[in-house]
Amino acid sequence: MIRLILDGEALVLPEGTSVAAALAASGDDHARSDLAGRPRAPFCGMGICQECRVCIDGRRRLACVTLIREGMKVERTR
Ligand code: FES
Repeated sequence: MIRLILDGEALVLPEGTSVAAALAASGDDHARSDLAGRPRAPFCGMGICQECRVCIDGRRRLACVTLIREGMKVERTR
């Protein structure tokens, strides 16, 4: 099991889980907000649509193509 921090809250999930799946497992699958403040969530699940952009350890990454790692810090973006 792997422990990560999502928006300041600890989550423990199985190895091999994507960050997009971790968002869904948290009970709120939105990854970011658009310019109008509306929530956006992963859509394509394969790195094309860019809807799943999050901040991982201080860098913008795509949640759908990134696997969770021990101690990873994930923040939803605006
Ligand atoms: S869900 Fe489309 S790029 Fe991640």
